[in-house]
Amino acid sequence: MQDLNTEFIERVRDMHEGDTYVLTTHGCQMNEHDSEKIKTLLDTMGFREIDDENEADLAIINTCSVRHSAEDKVIGHIGRLKHVKKKNKDLKVAVCGCMMQRKESRDYVLETFPHVDIVFGTNNIHRLPQLILESDDRNTTVVDIEQSYSNLDNRIFSKVDGHSAYVNIIYGCNNFCTYCIVPYTRGREISRSPEDILEEIEALVEDGVNEVTLLGQNVNSYGKTLEEKTTFAELLHMVHAIDGIDRIHFTTSHPKDVSDELIACYGELPKLANYLHLPVQSGSNDVLRAMNRHYTREDYFKLIDKLRAVRPDISLSTDIMVGFPGETDEDFEDTLDLVRRVRYDNAFTFIYSRREGTRADVMENQVPKSIKDERFQRLLDEVYAIQREKYEELHGTVQDVLFDSISKNDDSMMSGRTSGFKLVHAPYDADRIGKLTPVKITGGNTFSLRGEIVHATK
Ligand code: 5AD
Ligand code: SF4
Repeated sequence: MQDLNTEFIERVRDMHEGDTYVLTTHGCQMNEHDSEKIKTLLDTMGFREIDDENEADLAIINTCSVRHSAEDKVIGHIGRLKHVKKKNKDLKVAVCGCMMQRKESRDYVLETFPHVDIVFGTNNIHRLPQLILESDDRNTTVVDIEQSYSNLDNRIFSKVDGHSAYVNIIYGCNNFCTYCIVPYTRGREISRSPEDILEEIEALVEDGVNEVTLLGQNVNSYGKTLEEKTTFAELLHMVHAIDGIDRIHFTTSHPKDVSDELIACYGELPKLANYLHLPVQSGSNDVLRAMNRHYTREDYFKLIDKLRAVRPDISLSTDIMVGFPGETDEDFEDTLDLVRRVRYDNAFTFIYSRREGTRADVMENQVPKSIKDERFQRLLDEVYAIQREKYEELHGTVQDVLFDSISKNDDSMMSGRTSGFKLVHAPYDADRIGKLTPVKITGGNTFSLRGEIVHATK
């Protein structure tokens, strides 16, 4: 908590120690990480997390703008809190995250929901203590939005699990893919300095972390805004050199910025997870052009070939969208063909959602919902069938698994991930939590594997 204004933290603690909160998070890992910071701050100020908003003193909603459905959920949730607040008069309602970064959505929330007490954005989480104090003294909504990122937020060190942590390395996005709202919410690209990043990771290691996920909208573009230019591959080498780090993940990558230097890292850095999330969005060159993606399907195949030349068994995942304006049956067949050729271990599939203010929203040839739905189902069938095969290929092999915790559905089991990011369940052994452990894979299904710890023979 270095550099944060501890005076405000102490004052909130005096007023609110023992208060309860419910934190709801929508969206991507960036938001999850921001929520971890919010949680760390609230815990430090003496708040206690609970599940039931009817009983809570503070309800915080961390919002996402990327698809219409996510915004709808948030709006519905804020609306419901109005009724909760009628019964539970002391409830404070705070709304933060990407939706609040955008004036249009923010104004809508402020005008429609006067029962919201605090509104803040993605760049000023560290100011939450001040905002809570201001709101204590006021009947109107406290609004605080910063357009560009503050390194103070990175002083709120937070962990995902005991041994794993997200670390921001780059903020914002300069790409303006024509469907995407993110450049309008999270703003222009800006990189954190390597010194700050390494200092944070070293502090996390001191605190028991051995796995980091480097985060950004487009991590491959890392370093361009720094005075002393550093490439993403160079940063990976620096993180790799930190003693105590066993595994390094990163997300998200843009195919147009995957350099040969980055691909070489997969041959040079054994701690680099055997995994790459490489959003393709579409397998059709016409659609990729209309999306402003700056690569062709052929470029994408070349990248995959190069990666597999360096790490033949690398796990690949992707984001794919169906129903982008103008997508024809042929374009969609090209996407299915690409999926079959690449054979992803995992794919996040989306139905194109119109976002006001983006270029795709004003394209004339929007695809009807029924066609989008049908394509989505066909894509899912294809993706799951391949995923199932990919998981089955691991049956009988031994994988290094980093165990996180007791399984959600069975407390005699624990869960962890392979280096290729596949979920594995194995009989619980407290000694193995947070440690790389060889596991013989004995079975599983489309979404997870089962296994047994391989004990070293004496
Ligand atoms: N509609 C549907 N999916 C979208 N994504 C981004 N914007 C939209 C949109 N307007 C998807 C992309 C991106 C992922 C995070 O969300 O596939 O990679
Ligand atoms: Fe959105 Fe494209 Fe930037 Fe990703 S790279 S955040 S999809 S604009």
